[in-house]
Amino acid sequence: CGIVGYVGARQALDVVVEGLARLEYRGYDSAGVALVGDEIEIEKRAGKLRNLRDALTERPLPSSTTGIGHTRWATHGPPTDRNAHPHTDCHNRIAVIHNGIIENYSALRCDLEDRGHKLISETDTEVVAHLLEDKLAALGGAGAGGLAEAMRRVCRGLEGAFTLLAVAVDEPGAVVGARRNSPLVVGRGDGENFLASDVSAFIAFTREAVELGQDQVVHLRASSVEVSDFHGDPVPTNTYHVDWDASAAEKGGYDYFMLKEIAEQPRAVADTLLGRVTADGMLALDELRLPAEELRDVRKIVVVACGTSFHAGLIAKHAIERWSGMPCEVELASEFRYRDPILTRDTLVIVISQSGETMDTLMALRHAREQHSKVLAICNVNGATIPREADAVLYTHAGPEIAVASTKAFLTQLVACYLVALYLAQVRGTMPDREIARTIGLLETVPAHISEVLDTVEPVRELARSLVGERCVLFLGRHVGYPVALEGALKLKELAYMHAEGFAAGELKHGPIALIEPGLPVVVIVPSAAEQPLLHGKIVSNIQEIRARGAKTIVIAEQGDISVVPYADSLIAVPAVPTLLQPLVTTVPLQVFACELATAKGHDVDQPRNLAKSVTVE
Ligand code: G6P
Repeated sequence: CGIVGYVGARQALDVVVEGLARLEYRGYDSAGVALVGDEIEIEKRAGKLRNLRDALTERPLPSSTTGIGHTRWATHGPPTDRNAHPHTDCHNRIAVIHNGIIENYSALRCDLEDRGHKLISETDTEVVAHLLEDKLAALGGAGAGGLAEAMRRVCRGLEGAFTLLAVAVDEPGAVVGARRNSPLVVGRGDGENFLASDVSAFIAFTREAVELGQDQVVHLRASSVEVSDFHGDPVPTNTYHVDWDASAAEKGGYDYFMLKEIAEQPRAVADTLLGRVTADGMLALDELRLPAEELRDVRKIVVVACGTSFHAGLIAKHAIERWSGMPCEVELASEFRYRDPILTRDTLVIVISQSGETMDTLMALRHAREQHSKVLAICNVNGATIPREADAVLYTHAGPEIAVASTKAFLTQLVACYLVALYLAQVRGTMPDREIARTIGLLETVPAHISEVLDTVEPVRELARSLVGERCVLFLGRHVGYPVALEGALKLKELAYMHAEGFAAGELKHGPIALIEPGLPVVVIVPSAAEQPLLHGKIVSNIQEIRARGAKTIVIAEQGDISVVPYADSLIAVPAVPTLLQPLVTTVPLQVFACELATAKGHDVDQPRNLAKSVTVE
């Protein structure tokens, strides 16, 4: 699900293919390009970009300075050459690419077919090319802005979420884009202009960008960018300067983005704290557009997210309830949005999303706002849809996260959650100021602890390589160690395609213990003996129970915790930090573990099969 468009003086093919390469991180299963000349020239292939590149070498396309390109993540129809984008109309005079899902496509398709259109793919996208054909015919052709007008008319009849790009033979120097929900950004150059799902596609050419809003159409020519709404009324645009470094989006010497991102975690955590702490160690979060009085009136918090971000939410609950004394529920966005959660004006909904574009989370946000709850977004991508639609936003400063599986974004989400919990405690007076300052001081020591974990992680890599033949790994934890167990299992599923499950260790006896068989690797996250003696004792018993049944125990415990030594087949010692902050250090070896095991199996950890970085469909 990456989109690129170009019009200018360069070879459009080069710009578009390079742009698609920069968007590879978004996840995809086929790729294609269309160039505008006397005809529409198309090449498209299932599989990775190199398949498309090979096809273009075998059959070079005529040169052109207007083009579009797409990487597809299959929704309607399997990832085949035929279903890959671009799609064309009956006469091969219009080409269209699309991200998202057109929900009323079957009705549209039936209607088109009744009127004699021949559709050849199984995609929802193809209907748009044919609808554009009809609208253009009705307008008397594409010249002089006809394509943009046709696009507006088509969009008014579409339901669902979409970003569309179209080119037409009759309007050779133009690319038309339309946006509802899925992101689309314009890159403004000198005598050339770009369109893409995100700025990384064109940052090598320009840093001047315009974010398109909801329900807008852009008419792009080499020297002009015209934006209107779906009814043709012009919309003013704001150009902003992209200040992050292009090299930040490159691998910087690591074999995989994921390895680079794991290594960046101390910096990412420190950056997320930066500028948010006053000289006397309290929190200054004026950037939240929520006044302190409003936060004092909040009676309940609901955290909503998907995937790894949901695990951050499960940990946030512990911190919010402990520090601010406020009841906190945590729910998967895909569940929340389809039921009738009890929300009131004094409920604060916190949505957590790295990308800020996850469809389920976005819909959950809208669901909450419709019921007059205030929504605070914790997000990593500036200006994404979720922070723009939320009442308040706290950005994580992880920098661009390219690998599909989230690592540094997760740790910074945790930091952001801790900051929110402490800030609530500060404005509501539920924690003495000195205790708040002390906790923030401890948070500030975490980057050094993460560095220490990373410096001593080689045995974890060795252990991972030794388990490459295993079929299943279980993860156990209690309290904040339970979401860490879920996250450790998710990472292993995502990257190593292994069966992996996380369990609350107390639930072991209610079922999962039946899974234990000789040699089964079980990772156990042990709480601090000093801070949580009761839970510590319980989990040491759990380790003994599974070991007695033959499990291979991999124990993550605080440095100096000798009580677990007799029961650990492998021991991973992490620095001691306060219990609530422990996930910031215990997650790190689990990320390395999954990454190494997957690499040992020969998998591409940056782009795991079937997964997308930002899931902008339901
Ligand atoms: C996808 C990604 C996950 C991510 C989840 C939520 O499934 O593969 O790594 O945790 O989306 O994404 P978000 O951008 O909303 O945090």
